[in-house]
Amino acid sequence: MTAFALTRTLPEDTTGAALRADVLAGLGRTPKELPPKWFYDARGSRLFDEITTLPEYYPTRAEREILLARSAEIAAVSGARTLVELGSGSSDKTRHLLDELHSLHTYVPVDVSASALRTAGQALAAQRPGLSVHALVADFTAPLALPDTPGPRLIAFLGGTIGNLLPVERAAFLASVRRLLAPGDLLLLGTDLVKDEATLVAAYDDAAGVTAAFNKNVLYVLNRELGADFDPETFRHVAVWNSEQEWVEMRLRSVLGQSVKIPALDLTVDFAEGEELRTEVSAKFREKSARAELAAVGLAPVRWWTDEAGRFALSLWGVDEAGR
Ligand code: AVJ
Repeated sequence: MTAFALTRTLPEDTTGAALRADVLAGLGRTPKELPPKWFYDARGSRLFDEITTLPEYYPTRAEREILLARSAEIAAVSGARTLVELGSGSSDKTRHLLDELHSLHTYVPVDVSASALRTAGQALAAQRPGLSVHALVADFTAPLALPDTPGPRLIAFLGGTIGNLLPVERAAFLASVRRLLAPGDLLLLGTDLVKDEATLVAAYDDAAGVTAAFNKNVLYVLNRELGADFDPETFRHVAVWNSEQEWVEMRLRSVLGQSVKIPALDLTVDFAEGEELRTEVSAKFREKSARAELAAVGLAPVRWWTDEAGRFALSLWGVDEAGR
C-alpha cells in the first residue's frame, strides 16, 4: 500500500497572479528588486542543484555534515511522530533524518512545486512502508494549515532558506511557525553563519559561473511567463556582502541603458546604464542574534550545532516556558 496523499492549498492560477504582482511591484520600485522565489523553474532548480556541488558553495555540505552527526540526537530529543518540512524540494537532505526518526508516523513535505512533491513523496512512501506521506502544495511564507496528524511534531526548515526572507518577513514567518507548535513540538532550523567576506562572496560568485546563470535565469522566467524581452546577455551577475545587514545580495546590473517590454503587465521598464536589480538577499546569522529573533516570537533554544569548521548552524527550538 502506498500511503501518499497530496493537498493543494494553492489554486492552479495563483502562481501566475503572484508573479505578475511581484514583478509589477518590484520593478516599479527604486532600487528595483525581485523576490528570489522566481528563480526556481525547472532550469533554475537544476542550476541550484548544480550550485550545491560547487567547491565555493559550502552551506549544503556543511549542513549535511551536521545532519549526519546529529540526526539520531534530533530523533531522540524530539520523539517526532510527524515531520513537517518547509520547502522540501527533492527531500534529499531529509533522507538521513527520516532514517533516524523511528517513531515517525507521517511526513508532511511542503513546497510550491506539486511535481517535486509527487516525485519525492511517492518514492518515499514506497521505500518506507508504514510511513504515511501527506504532501502539501503551499507557499510557506503564507500562514499554513497543517493536516491533523499525531504529535509530537518536528517542523524542519533547512538549507538556510530562512535567509532569503527580509527581516520583517522573517519575523512574520517565525511567528506563524510558532503558532503551529504545541508544547513538546520542535522547530529544526538551518542557518548559514556570518564569516569572512571572501568566503561568503565566493559562495555566491563561483568561478564556473553557475551562480551567474542561476541569477540570470529569473530573466528567462520573466520572458517566458510574461512575454518580456529581457536580453540576459546585457546584465552582469553581481554578488556583494552587506556588512550592515549581514546578508549577501545578488543583483543583476544592466551594462547599458535600455527599455524592456513586459506585455503581460502592459509595462515598459527603463534601466539606466549600470543600474542594478536586486534578485536575492541571503542573510547570515550569529547564535546571539538568532536567539534574540526567536525569543521575540516565543521560541526558546533547545540545541545549537555547527559543522566542524563553524560555517553553518543547525538548531532546535521549542515553545518557551511562558508558553506564549
Ligand atoms: C537555497 C536560499 C539557501 O541563499 O544560499 C544559492 C540560494 N542563491 N546561490 C542561498 C542560492 C545563490 C540559497 N538558498
